[in-house]
Amino acid sequence: MSQDRTPRPAAVVVLAAGEGTRMRSATPKVLHAVGGRTLVSHAVAAAEQLHPEHLVVVVGHGRDAVQAHLAASAPSVQTAVQDEQRGTGHAVQCALAELPELTGTVVVTYGDVPLLTGETLRALVAARADEGNAVTVLTASLADPGGYGRVLRDADGSVVAIVEEKDATAEQRAVREINSGIYAFDIAALRDGLARITTDNSQGELYLTDVLGLARSDGKRVGALALDDRWQTEGVNDRVQLAALHRELNRRTVEHWMRAGVTVIDPATTWVDVDVTLEPDVLLEPNVLLRGATRVAGGAQVGPNCTLVDTSVGAGAVLTNTTSLGADVGPEATVGPYTYLRPGTRLGRGAKVGGFVEMKAAVVGDGSKVPHLSYVGDAEIGAGVNIGAATVFVNYDGVEKHRIVVGDHARVGSDTMLIAPVTIGDGAYTAAGSVITQDVPPGAMAVARGKQRNVEGWVERRRAGSPAAAAAAAARSRDGGGGPEAASGAAGGAGTDQADDTAYDDQGRPDR
Ligand code: UD1
Ligand code: CA
Repeated sequence: MSQDRTPRPAAVVVLAAGEGTRMRSATPKVLHAVGGRTLVSHAVAAAEQLHPEHLVVVVGHGRDAVQAHLAASAPSVQTAVQDEQRGTGHAVQCALAELPELTGTVVVTYGDVPLLTGETLRALVAARADEGNAVTVLTASLADPGGYGRVLRDADGSVVAIVEEKDATAEQRAVREINSGIYAFDIAALRDGLARITTDNSQGELYLTDVLGLARSDGKRVGALALDDRWQTEGVNDRVQLAALHRELNRRTVEHWMRAGVTVIDPATTWVDVDVTLEPDVLLEPNVLLRGATRVAGGAQVGPNCTLVDTSVGAGAVLTNTTSLGADVGPEATVGPYTYLRPGTRLGRGAKVGGFVEMKAAVVGDGSKVPHLSYVGDAEIGAGVNIGAATVFVNYDGVEKHRIVVGDHARVGSDTMLIAPVTIGDGAYTAAGSVITQDVPPGAMAVARGKQRNVEGWVERRRAGSPAAAAAAAARSRDGGGGPEAASGAAGGAGTDQADDTAYDDQGRPDR
């Protein structure tokens, strides 16, 4: 049945009140995440594909955290509180108590089955409607059905009842078809059954499953939709299952993108969150994590070894060994290796950000380059700019952050300190090693560093007998100079200073 013809259910109820003891976690089980989404958000996303009139999540353990999460991420979702976990039947009673009188279909699903798709839920709703069943249950056949409720069918294959493992006979336990716990109910049959279930079972709980047996003994039709894909009905009970389901979800996500035209060199080390979007002809190298709302446009190459969170990558861009949080990388830009882009960074078309560069809230114009070893924070860099190696945008005075503007086609010399707030005009230059504290007008060359002095002959006089002194003497005799005294008298270009023989130690520190 096509999507449009699937009847719209009156309600979807997501059971999520259980404690999840085996997770051994301070975090409620359904708030653990796979593929960049919490388990309960996966359930809500699948349910939303049915466009139900009401979507109710039953919360209990850790309910404040779960309710807060849902209020923030899915505000249209209602919650119902189940204070004491008295069984799945009781949980559905709690949900129905929050809803008005309804007619039609109620879907019941779990908050801890992250691979269940909206498509499967639609097929379940359609199967119930097509067959006119009071309830249709989603089932799977497992090699090891241990722990699950078993689906009991009669000779003609119709479903008679579900029996919990703890209540089952040896013969019933041999049944391999299990109850997924996911159902589409006719709401009248559901209400009628829930009013009659009892705690007369080995666990003393109100079993939702008993509603099926009651409907059947009332002469109503009970059906099953058997699913071949066991992953979709598998729940998370512990962290081993969490990892297994995460890996399988990721395998499916990566396969989806490969079929959509993305080249993935190593699917096993490529992790793509479910909300990521990739265009055809993206290339993903090994060890790539694409998280959150990351988007990568066609022809871009990412990896190896990249983590991109909420990052947008333009067509044809190339990123290697990069960590990027909330950045926007323009088309044809190149980033990496060992580059860290932080929120608010926007790189223009063809921009280049090279090795060991960190950026935060930096807007970089088209074709501009920050190739080596720089920190660029709170900056606006125009087009066609070159930022020399080891430049630091000194944006923080210890109290406040200030902005730095670099105009189009400016060239900032290597090892420049740009002290914010400051503006480098269009086409201006700064000399290497400058500490720039004042605005530089367009086209000016700013020089802000000590004047160089050469103390001629210093090494031969003050470090006599050292390899450096020997090398200096050899160079001098090769070049036809006199003794060190003569050298000290030679005319030096930059600030030659004969009187200063003892003024400096090896590191240029004042010698004392
Ligand atoms: C239930 C089914 C079983 C099925 C299995 C599939 C019943 C009686 N049994 O068993 O047939 O094979 O699921 O996983 O329904 N929950 C609540 N409130 C409660 C109890 C449970 O919200 O009072 C929620 C849990 O958070 C969980 C889900 O319902 O998400 C299933 O509960 P769980 O205790 O795991 O059910 P099982 O006993 O495993
Ligand atoms: Ca379970």
